[in-house]
Amino acid sequence: MEAMSTVGNERLAAVAGDVLSALHEVLERHQVTEQEWMAALAYLTEVGRADEFVLLSDVTRTSVLIDALSHRDDDGATASDVEGPLYVEDPPFREGTPAKIYDEYEGMGDADVLLIGGTVTSTSGGPLTDAVVDVWQTGPDGGYDIWDERQPEMNFRGRIRTGEDGGYQIQTMLPKPYTVPTEGPVGRYLAAVGQHAWRPAHIHFKVSAPGHRTLVTQVFFPGDPYLENDTIGAVKPALVRPVERRGEQLGCDFDIALAPA
Ligand code: BEZ
Ligand code: FE
Repeated sequence: MEAMSTVGNERLAAVAGDVLSALHEVLERHQVTEQEWMAALAYLTEVGRADEFVLLSDVTRTSVLIDALSHRDDDGATASDVEGPLYVEDPPFREGTPAKIYDEYEGMGDADVLLIGGTVTSTSGGPLTDAVVDVWQTGPDGGYDIWDERQPEMNFRGRIRTGEDGGYQIQTMLPKPYTVPTEGPVGRYLAAVGQHAWRPAHIHFKVSAPGHRTLVTQVFFPGDPYLENDTIGAVKPALVRPVERRGEQLGCDFDIALAPA
């Protein structure tokens, strides 16, 4: 710990020092063997090689903790949530009102068309014109485009710009619950500790506007069997939004408030 204090970065010295103290205390308390420690190091190497550290952070509920530490929930902004590992940069801008974010594909499962939309406002007052609403979700079979070769690239992903009134409207399909990837080292961890891999159905949002803090969040839907036991523990009651039938389609209102930067 003394060596730590010389690194010239007080924050690093304080946090890294405490991480090591906590780790050493656990190793001592459980009398961890050389063989077990080597297995742990080999496991973490595998997690890195498989690019699954974000996923490991998610399923151990560490991402949710960091999200809670990083965002106050009393500033009037829409509640934040974790991003997860499945965001893809620069999805296409989708035009039209509503802006449709998917193409039908062969073998596409049955699901209801969902219109989700609302107004993006600033907590300091007024609608935000030209805010960018970036969304991503699974298709109606519970799979993301990047896992499902039947789907065109960037399916069920897209960016929409808000209009003068701050409004946005998205045409999508109601997603279904799905499992986080289980074929890699994180899947072995889940099996080893007896934790299921399911997430409730959700739509991810990343919303940005000049002069405002970018909001990353997710919207969930009532009645989902995994609302109470999301494997990454990311469900917040304020983000569970009612869905109602509007003729042939389903509708969901999601107004979004951003805090000034
Ligand atoms: C997701 O919802 O996209 C996700 C979040 C955490 C881990 C895996 C997937
Ligand atoms: Fe997701």
